[in-house]
Amino acid sequence: MRVTILNNQNKQGTRILFISKDEIQNSEYKEKLEKYNFKGKGAFFLQDEEILFVGLDKCSKNINNYEESVAIALKSLKSLNIANVYVDISHLGEQTKYIIAQAFLLAGYEFNQFKSEKNVEIDIKINLNGIDSKIINELSIIADSVNIARDIVNTPPNIANSTYLAQMAKELSKDINNVTIDIHSNDFLEKEKMGAFLAVNQGSTSPAYLVHLQYKPTNKRKISKKIVLVGKGLVYDTGGLSLKPADYMTTMKADKGGACAVMSSFIAMAKMQLDVEIHAIMGITDNAIGSKSYRPDDVIYSREGKSIEVRNTDAEGRLVLVDCLSYAQDLKPDILIDFATLTGACVVALGEYTAGVMGHSDELKNDFVKSAMQVNELAHTLPFNRHLKKLLDSKIADICNISSARYGGAITAGLFLSNFIRDEYKSKWLHVDIAGPAFVEKEWGINPYGASGVGVRSCISFVKNNI
Ligand code: BES
Ligand code: ZN
Ligand code: ZN
Repeated sequence: MRVTILNNQNKQGTRILFISKDEIQNSEYKEKLEKYNFKGKGAFFLQDEEILFVGLDKCSKNINNYEESVAIALKSLKSLNIANVYVDISHLGEQTKYIIAQAFLLAGYEFNQFKSEKNVEIDIKINLNGIDSKIINELSIIADSVNIARDIVNTPPNIANSTYLAQMAKELSKDINNVTIDIHSNDFLEKEKMGAFLAVNQGSTSPAYLVHLQYKPTNKRKISKKIVLVGKGLVYDTGGLSLKPADYMTTMKADKGGACAVMSSFIAMAKMQLDVEIHAIMGITDNAIGSKSYRPDDVIYSREGKSIEVRNTDAEGRLVLVDCLSYAQDLKPDILIDFATLTGACVVALGEYTAGVMGHSDELKNDFVKSAMQVNELAHTLPFNRHLKKLLDSKIADICNISSARYGGAITAGLFLSNFIRDEYKSKWLHVDIAGPAFVEKEWGINPYGASGVGVRSCISFVKNNI
């Protein structure tokens, strides 16, 4: 379905009314709703009044509930084949309005490119009474970008190979003012001594790419900061020679979620022409099996000069990231953030819905979590500690690519990255593990099955709060 938001004051078509169980009691429609046994759960279409009632769980103060209600509303509109609706949200607070509008633009997402029989397309026009048109414009840019990230992450690995992803970045950034792109491949990575990144690419039949997108606003005097984003772009992760079991390999097309998140955030922020210099670096390859694959027991050299003992080729994301982070630090960032579907352990720790935020600055971490929550993406901090750090010690190299202990895997992965962050950038760096929310196995909130586009909204919100 396509969803467009309008904000003229028209009250034509079907009305959507979000209503909680308690509110039904004081509603002028109480009798009718009770007659049809609508108790504030799901949706109910009252035909004679032309109102779609949508249940709202107001017991908790979480604005999240609106997202779920909006998703229910869109599903009902689709099944009732209603395309013109209005909702009065003028009585609500600014943040709630924002969340509702955002949910309308995101909850209707469908990925049916590979279905021979497509569902009937419905073009739903929602008139939101009481929201500023500037907000709608900004939200449309952001939602389009989230949906682009979802599309690319959903695209299967036999189509979305490394070259496809690099070309997508080029295509999508081409007509935006003040944007340039450099697409570097294996020769460049060799020249830059990115031995960790190259090791992961060794078994692949496709090249590795480091894509560097830059946005430098015209009015240089207004630029307050330089923000550098780095994303893990594993177009497929078989695990390499430390092969993943079959059940864990499916959905690994989503291992490019970090790179897609930084690319999409970048595109949205460049389109918004924010007063901040932004770089997005995507580390793109697959982790494949071949006669040239890197092995457990190999020792490789990273761009920062440290040697790494590979003990598990499935811990590949961190190898790609450390070389990209090294390149990123040369850009002298004021803030450096990486997004990656890095560890299954992060999903164990926080559940499937929440991103894990790590780093050395409490202020930065808390800022990020707050920014994410403002736009309804769930994020929580995970604490570094020195006891976990020593689990990465190697007997033969400077560091090992996996921890010697079973527990705390999300944090030890973060600490591995931290080893390659120079002292001057330690407190400017954040690592966001999105392994849980990047791919949705069972739909929730505004997310249908498949890629969620997670990270885009948080990243933009964080940057906007930090200009
Ligand atoms: N891409 C995976 C992490 C992942 C797991 C993402 C589940 C999304 C959902 C990553 O490359 C990986 O395989 N990590 C290993 C690390 C281990 C070998 C130390 C893991 O989490 O098992
Ligand atoms: Zn892996
Ligand atoms: Zn991976």
